[in-house]
Amino acid sequence: MLLFLKALHPAIALLAFWSIVAAGDVLHPVSVDTQVTIKPTDANFNISAVSTGRFVTSKDGTQIFAEARGNPSKPAVVFIHGFRLGATVFDSIFDDPHWLSQVYLVRYDTRGHGRSDKPTDATSWASERLAQDFDAVVQSYNLHCPFVLAWSLGGTHIVDILSIHPATYLSGIIYNAAIPDTTHLMSVVSPAGVALVLKILSFPQAFIEFINLCHPALEWNFYLACLGNGDVQPTIAAGFAGTRSQNSTALLNAGRSGELALLAIFGADDKLIQKQPALDFISGWKNLTVTTLPNAEHFTWISQPELFRTTVLEWIAGHRKRGI
Ligand SMILES: *[C@@H]1O[C@H](CO)[C@@H](O)[C@H](O)[C@H]1NC(C)=O
Ligand SMILES: *[C@@H]1O[C@H](CO)[C@@H](O)[C@H](O)[C@H]1NC(C)=O
Ligand SMILES: *[C@@H]1O[C@H](CO)[C@@H](O)[C@H](O)[C@H]1NC(C)=O
Repeated sequence: MLLFLKALHPAIALLAFWSIVAAGDVLHPVSVDTQVTIKPTDANFNISAVSTGRFVTSKDGTQIFAEARGNPSKPAVVFIHGFRLGATVFDSIFDDPHWLSQVYLVRYDTRGHGRSDKPTDATSWASERLAQDFDAVVQSYNLHCPFVLAWSLGGTHIVDILSIHPATYLSGIIYNAAIPDTTHLMSVVSPAGVALVLKILSFPQAFIEFINLCHPALEWNFYLACLGNGDVQPTIAAGFAGTRSQNSTALLNAGRSGELALLAIFGADDKLIQKQPALDFISGWKNLTVTTLPNAEHFTWISQPELFRTTVLEWIAGHRKRGI
């Protein structure tokens, strides 16, 4: 029960900063939330004339690391990553000439993650603030009516966006093994996934088990990059990201009125996301396409790169709004 409360209330997660580990016969209290301050300089992030990354400033001053690649005249797709990770998870897509020739690829480290600022106060985690981060990216790259491809916990950001914008702000939604809102995190995520998320809040080193659950055989450098994203995040930020208050009414209205199209992709072997609870949440969505990729883990696009790409690009081609 205590673990459950920690997940619901970020403030309670603070209590989890101290963990007892056994060393021989003696119990030592050990701080497990040492925050590593990373310094965003050109040198360590390689932002330069030849690299397309940049910092954009959100309405409340939070610095967000964003990057765009490809042809700006093509339909824009903004990729949003998931729990405790960063925009780097989409590297294989952003390096793929087939993707680059069809769409304008945009991604960012969401607030509290990767190279972006990591506020640890509750007000910085109001739903509106996360929508404003997305807006700063949209404005900085002059995107007009982008598609959003949201993976895992990244799916919750679409609720934030549509809470302050009309459905016409977006061309369409791509749920990639997505959690639709924070309220339904507990039902959409598998029991094994929920247990690990709770464990990580008091024992961040358990993140390695979480990545193993996302995919059992990742390429080594990518695996380390995922673990590194976990290391640079204060646990309190992970708590806020998964527990912030949201209002899904506008999102569901946009779907049930037929204003916004949605492609929901699932991995048949995903050990984190439960398909039916996710679909139950969006029941009544008018313009809905559901695709389950065979032999695909939670990292759907890593398990099935070609199938994932053709599924998304063909759907986008059929759902471009007039003139875009
Ligand atoms: C920085 O990024 C550019 C473009 O991605 C690459 O060509 C260059 O080698 C990188 N420099 C370093 C020091 O990594
Ligand atoms: C949620 O948003 C809708 C509008 O989309 C609004 O009518 C409703 O009052 C909001 N609910 C809460 C609890 O703020
Ligand atoms: C879904 O949306 C696309 C484009 O936005 C449109 O062409 C198509 O007719 C819609 N389908 C349904 C069933 O409403």
